[in-house]
Amino acid sequence: MSALDPFGLLTSETARSPYAAFARMRREAPVCFIEPWGGWALTRHADVSAAFRDPRLSANRAAMLAGSLPPEVKAHLEPLIRNLSSWALFVDPPDHARLRGLFTKAFTPKTASQLKPAIDELAKVLVDDAVKKSTNGTINIVHDLANPLPVIVIGDLLGLPREDRHRLRAWADSLAAFLSAAQPTLDKAVGACKAIAETESYFRDIIAARRDALGDDLLSSLITAETEAGLLSEQELISACALILFAGHETTTNLIGNGILALLEHPGELARLQRTPDAMPSAVEEFLRYDTPVQRMSRVAMEDLTIGESQIAKGQRIYLLIAAANRDPEVFADPDRLDVFRADNRHLGFGLGIHYCSGAALGRLEAQAAVKELITRFPRMQRKGEVDWLGGIAMRSQRTLTVAVE
Ligand code: HEM
Repeated sequence: MSALDPFGLLTSETARSPYAAFARMRREAPVCFIEPWGGWALTRHADVSAAFRDPRLSANRAAMLAGSLPPEVKAHLEPLIRNLSSWALFVDPPDHARLRGLFTKAFTPKTASQLKPAIDELAKVLVDDAVKKSTNGTINIVHDLANPLPVIVIGDLLGLPREDRHRLRAWADSLAAFLSAAQPTLDKAVGACKAIAETESYFRDIIAARRDALGDDLLSSLITAETEAGLLSEQELISACALILFAGHETTTNLIGNGILALLEHPGELARLQRTPDAMPSAVEEFLRYDTPVQRMSRVAMEDLTIGESQIAKGQRIYLLIAAANRDPEVFADPDRLDVFRADNRHLGFGLGIHYCSGAALGRLEAQAAVKELITRFPRMQRKGEVDWLGGIAMRSQRTLTVAVE
């Protein structure tokens, strides 16, 4: 801890578990300027919810992502920023509704639930493969299940060849490393630029081929939106593909990995869930609250404004600490306790307002399938070794999670 970092947000202890620091912030300075992040942090559920819905806050922050990197480096990031600038995630009204509308149809709870049998089967096959290749009675849940499951599901949705999944995953990982860094570094920026250039060229080729053979996949409907309805430019079409790849991947990996870890650390809750597997949907909501996969989102003030007692100037960055809000005792009884049956769980794990996660129904299904497969198949599974957090501040991601399954 230091004068510049009074809540110890940059310490390795906070990287392992940020919740004590978040609780102090919520109590002592619920709206405070965080020097190392160069912006304001909100930690109360009420403030974070209000900020998600506040039309005075812009989501258009693609150009700010390069942070304090030197101008000559920023110049090289132009293709990356151009791609990100068309992500619904970073676009304000009125364009936002047009870009978001494309996914809304593809990701309704009904279409997601039609995918349920295939997702359940995929979880089973991935666990089968992991068990087959294991030589010591352990499997690595992140590597063998939580990571491949979402990338295969997204690839199938878009109608991409399954053998491309390792490339897709590597690009999504490089983008995530840059986008969720506490401070973007040159090597992360370079990695993200390379990933976006390769993603763009990959999708350009696939789109060119798909134009002559449209199917009933999501990519074909995006192409139809571009050509027939004239709703999209080609850059927006390619950006939409990159966004789905990024937004649906590490987030879901984290939800599965963090959910399983939470259960392993709370054997009583694991046993309750094993006795009542129908409670899986409520358990997944609790994982989204208890160890939130996307911990932090940000916005930019479009005018001078006041939050709590703090004056925020036009142009300043505001961080919405979802993970802190999700443990606010004003809203959640006994917030630091994992309760797989928690009722009235108003967590903000998928955000709120116009940018509320388009893939929420799909992410929920994937996590339910993966966790159910593991806990029913390996009733006595146990964690092996230390938890290995990646340490980014925006995402809560484990590098590996090894469990003994015999
Ligand atoms: C399961 C774990 C997931 C979590 C925790 C998660 C979390 C979030 C959050 C917090 C936002 C709001 C961002 C903001 O307000 O700035 C968001 C937006 C979004 N998510 Fe997810 N997400 C998940 C899965 C998915 C999946 C599976 C997809 C699609 C395949 C997806 C696609 C999107 C898109 C397209 C947006 C942008 C929506 C907009 O800006 O209108 N997400 N997600």
